[in-house]
Amino acid sequence: MSASHNGCTILWEGQHPNPLLKDLERAELGHSGVHVKMLAAPINPADINMIQGTYALLPDLPAVGGNEGVGQVVEVGSHVTSLKPGDWVVPADAELGTWRTDAVFSEETLVKLPRDIPLLCAATLSVNPCTAYRMLTDFETLGPGDSIIQNAANSGVGQAVIQIAAALGIKTINVIRDRPNLQEVVDRLMSLGAEHVLTEEMLRKPEMKDLFKKVPKPRLALNCVGGKSATEMLRHIQQKGTMVTYGGMAKQPLTVPVSAFIFKDVKLRGFWMTQWKKDQAQSKLKVISVGK
Ligand SMILES: NC(=O)c1ccc[n+]([C@@H]2O[C@H](COP(=O)([O-])OP(=O)(O)OC[C@H]3O[C@@H](n4cnc5c(N)ncnc54)[C@H](OP(=O)(O)O)[C@@H]3O)[C@@H](O)[C@H]2O)c1
Repeated sequence: MSASHNGCTILWEGQHPNPLLKDLERAELGHSGVHVKMLAAPINPADINMIQGTYALLPDLPAVGGNEGVGQVVEVGSHVTSLKPGDWVVPADAELGTWRTDAVFSEETLVKLPRDIPLLCAATLSVNPCTAYRMLTDFETLGPGDSIIQNAANSGVGQAVIQIAAALGIKTINVIRDRPNLQEVVDRLMSLGAEHVLTEEMLRKPEMKDLFKKVPKPRLALNCVGGKSATEMLRHIQQKGTMVTYGGMAKQPLTVPVSAFIFKDVKLRGFWMTQWKKDQAQSKLKVISVGK
């Protein structure tokens, strides 16, 4: 049997001991293939949702899991011009299937990376830091001294938000869940550049007023959790501010106080990196066709 996946034909034969699993053979290199050895690939919440079948993007089966990771080019076909053996590459898009030892991919599904960044940063570069950067820049025009608020601030995305915001001079108010080693997590986030780190419970306390004597009310809230956590963040957002939802870790719907719409005119938006990439690919095509 065979199936086409991201431009590579994958083949399998015989019966795997687990009937739900298949052994795949590596595709031929051909003229335009790129043989990549995977070096490291993370497990992201979206990968799990994909396996559960609850994600908005579901590959045809059989499929290889993993949407992110870094690999090293072993060999390239004679028509490949942008990559050479030894290069580090990451997926250009979701659904590449990075949880494998090696594979032959097509050139356009890979993006070359500089080799002077740590391996684990390279393996986790293409989803969370990009999401953090887009959310900080696409919804509100923020400058040095402005503030943002975010929940799940210790998540991969949250830590990227803290670091990018700090580099832009934007102050971050970071909300995390309480835990036995709270101080350790607070110290870690502060060392990354967080301005304030609070627990979900602290967010509901009247002392929040004191915090807003030191830092301006946020114009942007980044919601990874949903449920009560999002409602509480909305209470602290500035007039006409925006809350961007990009994750639903609590699996609870958003509850928005009517007053937030009437008296504050808040904006509720969503963000999905995969859609952003698709939209950008479309707009590039339009520019090319207008140019012609
Ligand atoms: N929309 C997009 O384009 C986009 C891009 C990247 C990521 N995401 C989404 O962003 C989310 C975080 O991804 P990540 O890779 O940064 O995850 P991660 O590093 O695994 O972190 C998960 C975070 O979720 C928190 N969490 C887990 N269960 C929770 C619950 N029931 N209530 C409140 N908080 C909870 C964890 O807090 P504790 O430490 O307290 O457990 C942690 O802060 C996921 O939903 C992912 O799908 C979306």
